[in-house]
Amino acid sequence: MTSSPKYAVTGASGELGRLIVPALAARVGAANVVAIVRDPARATGLFPAGVAVRSGDYEKPETLPATLAGVERLLLISSNALGSRVAQHRNVIEAAKAAGVAHIAYTSVLNADRSALELAEEHRQTEALLAASGLNVSLLRNGWYSENYTAGIPAALANGTLYGAAGEGRIASAPRADYAEAAAVALAGDESALTVHELAGDSAYTLGEFAAELSSQTGRDIPYVNLPQADYQGALIGAGLPVPLAELLADSDAGAANGALFDDGHALSKLIGRATVPIAQSIATALKTK
Ligand SMILES: NC(=O)c1ccc[n+]([C@@H]2O[C@H](COP(=O)([O-])OP(=O)(O)OC[C@H]3O[C@@H](n4cnc5c(N)ncnc54)[C@H](OP(=O)(O)O)[C@@H]3O)[C@@H](O)[C@H]2O)c1
Repeated sequence: MTSSPKYAVTGASGELGRLIVPALAARVGAANVVAIVRDPARATGLFPAGVAVRSGDYEKPETLPATLAGVERLLLISSNALGSRVAQHRNVIEAAKAAGVAHIAYTSVLNADRSALELAEEHRQTEALLAASGLNVSLLRNGWYSENYTAGIPAALANGTLYGAAGEGRIASAPRADYAEAAAVALAGDESALTVHELAGDSAYTLGEFAAELSSQTGRDIPYVNLPQADYQGALIGAGLPVPLAELLADSDAGAANGALFDDGHALSKLIGRATVPIAQSIATALKTK
């Protein structure tokens, strides 16, 4: 007799989701995991053998009941559709409730309840929907991904300068893989009621220190130049980023200057049972793969 998989991850074909699915399968068994994706054709070869793939779209509530059938513990990975996220997440939360899901974990942002970051507002509203849902909830309040900054290394090397707007703010980032492991631990465990995890890297750095580490590893002098938020936003747009993303990144740097991306609670390393990967190692990895 086969039973329905009990654990499901939405946004499974995204950068974070594709790391969470194998981490979860390693803990609960691949046959107990459903990877929920918008486009199953894009999921070929992405997940370990035995993981079920189902399609579901946050924008199409009619796709969600079949997708969630039999699921007991669900990870809702926050959407990347800035501005539409609350409505999208509401669709998933309502469908989960109707399908009898017992527990939802949600990827929020560090200190969502008080964060000054613009992007925190949609997370706050989603957290409120979750609290009102009556479901058991784990809030995975993720700090910054190290990849947000290592992705800028090729541009910094090309320009001979690292630009940003984070001033002397300290950033306690960790790579996606560390947050993915934490999500798998929380979903596979027995957390019930409301559990809040403020997740961030064990060590923090300023962008000046990031540039110094990059300089040391490349043997070049790559200084950090701090720009006013509006100028940094303009530079990102000039480099080809879409305006909403440039706005969000410049706002996040300005928030970082005021401590919005700093944390020293070490909850992430406690949850995953090991130290988080330091930024120097993430820079080295990025330089090897660039
Ligand atoms: N902490 C941080 O530093 C940080 C940085 C960036 C983003 N984030 C947040 O964390 C989330 C996950 O990060 P990531 O790196 O995995 O981002 P990502 O690669 O952009 O993944 C976003 C996921 O959301 C899915 N999605 C978007 N609209 C959807 C819809 N209508 N229905 C179903 N799925 C939908 C995408 O599906 P497809 O695969 O089909 O496109 C994708 O799998 C992001 O969406 C964002 O909310 C956090």
